[in-house]
Amino acid sequence: MKPPRHIAIIMDGNGRWAKERGLPRIKGHEKGAESLRAVVEGCAEVGVEFLTVYAFSTENWSRPKAEVSALMKLLELFIERETPELIEKGIRLQAIGRLTDLPESCQRALHKAIEATSGGTRLTLVLALSYSGRTEITDAVKSIVRDVQAGRIDSAMIDPELISRHLYTRVYPDPDLLIRTSGEMRLSNFLLWQLSYTEIVVTQKLWPDFGKDELREAIAEFHGRDRRFGAV
Ligand code: IPE
Ligand code: IPE
Ligand code: MG
Repeated sequence: MKPPRHIAIIMDGNGRWAKERGLPRIKGHEKGAESLRAVVEGCAEVGVEFLTVYAFSTENWSRPKAEVSALMKLLELFIERETPELIEKGIRLQAIGRLTDLPESCQRALHKAIEATSGGTRLTLVLALSYSGRTEITDAVKSIVRDVQAGRIDSAMIDPELISRHLYTRVYPDPDLLIRTSGEMRLSNFLLWQLSYTEIVVTQKLWPDFGKDELREAIAEFHGRDRRFGAV
């Protein structure tokens, strides 16, 4: 059976994983980075074309300063450490969100890795960083209004296709499958427009305990779904 073309993941539960073990939250994030590594590899192996992961939301900036800076450091390290393997495996790294909110060293590492992996054709890994679905839609509205005011487009041309082309995700297909770990039944401001017809799998597993086997289970559950897109 064909794998979902695009999988999106809300990687949640790192804090709970650490708490269960009496460890600081950052230890959960570190273990979570290993899960991401395994899941990226798993997606490449089964032939998924796009994997978009929610790594940091705009709302996450409100966490304690120490956790935010540790997360940013971890992100930078992860990007630097994984780049050679991404290149070797034909994985292209991309990012969506208000990337200019990130610390400068993080932005530099990110852009370097995006450039270095740009030749990858097997899988596109999209990191959602300082991402908010509502901000993305707001930015799209502003950009469309500018195009109308400048006379580049006529307001009669505004349709869902045009709106999709103004989102951060313009070049990616909509996700087929959304996975959220650790049991929460909410979107938390992730890809609000793009998830309109996405199949949702929520697992109780905490993100640091999620690996290739759990990915395969989620894909199997996806294959059991009857996607109707409103038709009968
Ligand atoms: C997800 O794990 C990682 C980020 C949001 C950065 P959490 O840190 O939200 O973990 P819980 O939800 O507190 O367990
Ligand atoms: C969503 O998880 C954001 C990321 C996974 C990066 P949160 O833990 O921030 O979401 P809420 O607070 O449970 O909605
Ligand atoms: Mg959480």
